[in-house]
Amino acid sequence: MDVASLEPRLLLGPGPSPVSERIRTAMAQPTLGHLDPQFLALLDDVNARLRLLFGTRNRTTFPLSGTGSAGMEAAMVNLIAPGDRVLVGVNGVFGTRLAEMGRRMGAEVVTIEAPWGEPIPEEQVIEALQAHPDARLLAIVHAETSTGVHQPLAEIGRFMRDGETLLVVDAVTSLGGTPVEVDAIGIDVCYSGTQKCLGVPPGLAPITFSERALERVRTRGGPPTSWYLDVSLIAGYLGAERRYHHTAPINLIYGLHESLVEIGEEGLEARYDRHAEAGALLRDELGERGFTPFTREGARLPQLTALHLPDGRDEGPLRKRLLEEHGIEVGGGLGPVAGKIWRIGLMGEGARPETVRQLVDAVDAILDGG
Ligand SMILES: Cc1ncc(COP(=O)(O)O)c(C=O)c1O
Repeated sequence: MDVASLEPRLLLGPGPSPVSERIRTAMAQPTLGHLDPQFLALLDDVNARLRLLFGTRNRTTFPLSGTGSAGMEAAMVNLIAPGDRVLVGVNGVFGTRLAEMGRRMGAEVVTIEAPWGEPIPEEQVIEALQAHPDARLLAIVHAETSTGVHQPLAEIGRFMRDGETLLVVDAVTSLGGTPVEVDAIGIDVCYSGTQKCLGVPPGLAPITFSERALERVRTRGGPPTSWYLDVSLIAGYLGAERRYHHTAPINLIYGLHESLVEIGEEGLEARYDRHAEAGALLRDELGERGFTPFTREGARLPQLTALHLPDGRDEGPLRKRLLEEHGIEVGGGLGPVAGKIWRIGLMGEGARPETVRQLVDAVDAILDGG
């Protein structure tokens, strides 16, 4: 077996998404040292471009080494001390994961729950905040990849703006595909992942910390239990001192830089529109073929569409044929919806009408073939 003989796939699952030739070429450039002034200048540029994408002026904005789950854990571990009460929105896999992380950190986790496939009503979140004014943070998922739900945040952010509870938002699947307005909403820590709407391979978690969040870290009375994810230590490398903490994943950061340059060239509005249009086209085309949306109108993400198959068809064998006969990957359901739905990601490079057509042609072929 060798890497050069692997069959390419069209990645239309919940991530990773297709990686453009341009990004792959950038990643193949010669590796520099993590303290080389050229690399440090590139990293500074990545951080500046991430600020634009997150919609923030936060100084501490950077690509954390590790996948989206490292971003989740960094947000939680820096802010939580054992015994803290924390609120977590749970309506799918990733809210469940956040709650589990909080428990492992010794927090008293209070979940705010909604059925899978539904956003958590903002009033319900605000009621929980009112019931627990001592909560140290509220963590909530903006784009629930397990169901395709888009969580509204504006009212929650407005309510929390002057309070003591910090707002942590998971934007792993939203960043680069739908607007994530960190400062406008009043988010304190927001993290993402490179393998979704940014179109870069997995391995980095862009993350941003507000001054309020950093103040909480400074005054927490003892360091966080994770050394690797301690934002105060990482900040020593990002700032003027350039203090060694760990060796940055140089070539992945080249890839992220190229993606952020591409995004700058395309323009944020054009990129969000492209994702919205591709998602709408997919729903129309598959709707005509008898697929029915799992998530109701008004709550759907364009970049991740969850659907029931036509006529109660068994999803697993059809998904396997799509991969084996057409080289197209889509995702199945997780947890309570395992075996019941397809999850189709149109993220980054994948969010194009020609991709939708390619998928629809392949779906026609496998449905016609029984
Ligand atoms: C919403 C959300 N949060 C967190 C994660 C975890 O990211 P990773 O799998 O990159 O660790 C994912 C991954 O799919 C996700 O979709």
